[in-house]
Amino acid sequence: MNDMQMIKEIEKIKKEKNIKIFAHNYQNLEVQRVADYLGDSFYLSKLAGEVDCDEIIFCGVRFMAETAKIMCSDKKVVLPVEDAECPMAHMVKPQEVLAFKKEHPEFKVVSYVNTTTELKAVSDVCVTSSIAEIVINNMDAQNILFIPDMNLADYVSKRVKGKNIISWNGYCPVHDKVRKDEIFAMRKEYSGYEVLVHPECRREVLQEADFVGSTSAIINYAKNSAAPGFIIGTETGVLHTLKAENPKKEYELLSPSLICYNMKKTTLRDVYNAVTGKGGLVIELDKELAENAKRSLDEMVRLACN
Ligand code: 13P
Ligand code: SF4
Repeated sequence: MNDMQMIKEIEKIKKEKNIKIFAHNYQNLEVQRVADYLGDSFYLSKLAGEVDCDEIIFCGVRFMAETAKIMCSDKKVVLPVEDAECPMAHMVKPQEVLAFKKEHPEFKVVSYVNTTTELKAVSDVCVTSSIAEIVINNMDAQNILFIPDMNLADYVSKRVKGKNIISWNGYCPVHDKVRKDEIFAMRKEYSGYEVLVHPECRREVLQEADFVGSTSAIINYAKNSAAPGFIIGTETGVLHTLKAENPKKEYELLSPSLICYNMKKTTLRDVYNAVTGKGGLVIELDKELAENAKRSLDEMVRLACN
């Protein structure tokens, strides 16, 4: 079966089975094209609790599919590639968080959505990169432990005033590799271009950027800016939407290291197999664990939309 036939079949089965395909902004172009919804982590997490369908095929990494399942436990949720994992999601253990809480009861635990369900279940609230600042500002807690991303924690703590934010030492292996020297070199080569970066990058990189934001915020910024071109400091998958939405502007990837191999594992064939029920991982979560994790996610949505 060639790609065109597969796309046709996917569209047909989607209708028959009332399936919606969710895809994160980092997915391969062929996958983005068959998606019903494409966006950043916050948009997709919130949408999972609102969308009207019987099944979600979540093209992303495992924590994203688990988050969708938590938000809509009555629906079938499938991750097309079983081992599509975000390494950062495992950089802290639930026992470590529980031990910290026991020793520091005055702290609230804020977990980046890039965490396992087990971690969300022992957290007080979740955040994504697009709403971390607003959620933390709206919390009535003074002392906060932010897990696991130290770069995002550092970025947020500079923007939130009057709170004591300490962080775990996790990081995104993709964004953390980028260095400020790469910005200097790119600015020299592409003068007049704006540098747009994700807050999972190091402080030295964020300090040299023109804009810092989530994947969707970067796409949105480029759309509204008058600059002729952009140096993109996040995973290469966002370039598909950027080019499609603003074909007259130019885009360069800030660093060759900005490829998330886990996000790139999902192919059109995997989506086809998931839709036909012949492949992928059907997400199953322990009921009590999922309910505890949902409290943190519901709190995120409540504080973000406050
Ligand atoms: P966004 O929430 O910006 O989509 O980011 C998710 C992610 O995994 C970034 O590496
Ligand atoms: Fe995880 Fe980084 Fe990949 Fe995002 S880009 S999914 S944080 S490894």
